[in-house]
Amino acid sequence: MKQGHVISHEKRKCDKLFQPLLLGFFTGYPVNICYEHHAALAPLLQFHLNNCGDPFTQNTVDFHSKDFEVAVLDWFAQLWEIEKDEYWGYITNGGTEGNLHGLLIGRELHPTGIIYASKDSHYSISKATRMYRMEIETINTLVNGEIDYADLRSKLLLNKNKPAIININIGTTFKGAIDDLDLVLQILQKCGYSNDRYYIHCDAALYGLIVPFTQHVKTITFKKPIGSVSISGHKFLGCPMPCGIQITRKGYITSLSTKIEYIASVDATISGSRNGLAPIFLWYSLCMKGRAGLQQDAKMCNENARYLKGRLHKAGISTMLNESSIIVVFERPNDPKFIRHWQLSCTRDMAHVVVMPGITRETIDNFFKDLMQERKKWYQVGIIVPPCLADDIGSQNCLCSKQKMRH
Ligand SMILES: Cc1ncc(COP(=O)(O)O)c(C=O)c1O
Repeated sequence: MKQGHVISHEKRKCDKLFQPLLLGFFTGYPVNICYEHHAALAPLLQFHLNNCGDPFTQNTVDFHSKDFEVAVLDWFAQLWEIEKDEYWGYITNGGTEGNLHGLLIGRELHPTGIIYASKDSHYSISKATRMYRMEIETINTLVNGEIDYADLRSKLLLNKNKPAIININIGTTFKGAIDDLDLVLQILQKCGYSNDRYYIHCDAALYGLIVPFTQHVKTITFKKPIGSVSISGHKFLGCPMPCGIQITRKGYITSLSTKIEYIASVDATISGSRNGLAPIFLWYSLCMKGRAGLQQDAKMCNENARYLKGRLHKAGISTMLNESSIIVVFERPNDPKFIRHWQLSCTRDMAHVVVMPGITRETIDNFFKDLMQERKKWYQVGIIVPPCLADDIGSQNCLCSKQKMRH
């Protein structure tokens, strides 16, 4: 086969593969496809950029983008209210690496500490506990997905002889629930844990760029006694390659920092080579959008999520949407083909749509219309009925026939 034919064959394969992305069918995962980096930044793909080592130490080799990395970190440090000379951070490969790093700092500061994480936490948290061979206390969740504060309190009291390393979810993966950081801090104090007996890592993978713009009170701020915050760069902000931002207190990083002669740098990161293109793409997005643009996106997604929830509820479909959330949880569609077509994510009898900036009202209307048409077929005979979601999303949100009879 000639080279030209191979290329056009591969291109057709790619076009087919990426069709759901281009058509906006990618509804179940937090991917923001609304960016135009590729036009302006594509020429950069000719360069190999590698930011290995510490972002604040310039390497002796020149193929890196650490100036952009530090500019992005400064932006987030300002957002999360920590002074330039008091923070340390780096651009990670994604939210998972941020969680691994945050919990590692917690473990270095408290080698005998126990990790406390709710059962709705992302799987990277249990991955970290296995990697670091740490003890974990899994905490129940409330029906909306928030950490169960009473369960946390009783487990903290049971383990008072050991420090606590707590993962706080600023938006859980499936239900988009935001743990009440202030309440957790109060519980720690009431249980007798002084500031030097705990470490808090905030996993803000998706919501780290939503809550600052939708909530009146500052949820994430280093003015509170938290140790680290991580976020995924490719989620709400949007970036063609997976990446993330990790910020912690400068004083906490010394124990992790090692001098590496080979790269002429110090290193406190998890990865070796790090993607040097990601900081430039992130920096570009932040400059193009600014806080005002992000606020607009957050407001629009919030409103669109409420719109979808309203349509589902009116049609008699069990659904739930947390406050400030963009994740609409509803009954699991009864057809794998439908799930695949709309790229939905499902757990037990639930599915969710993450209403990202690319999910327009038109996409929502098309999705809703398709769901209603298909649903008629699934449930027309009456042998199969929609699932009861009372335990998963609360009886007030469940509209199955059993709940209707009960009311
Ligand atoms: C709450 C939460 N934390 C962490 C992650 C992991 O992020 P990443 O996929 O960027 O590694 C996710 C991903 O969905 C998430 O929802």
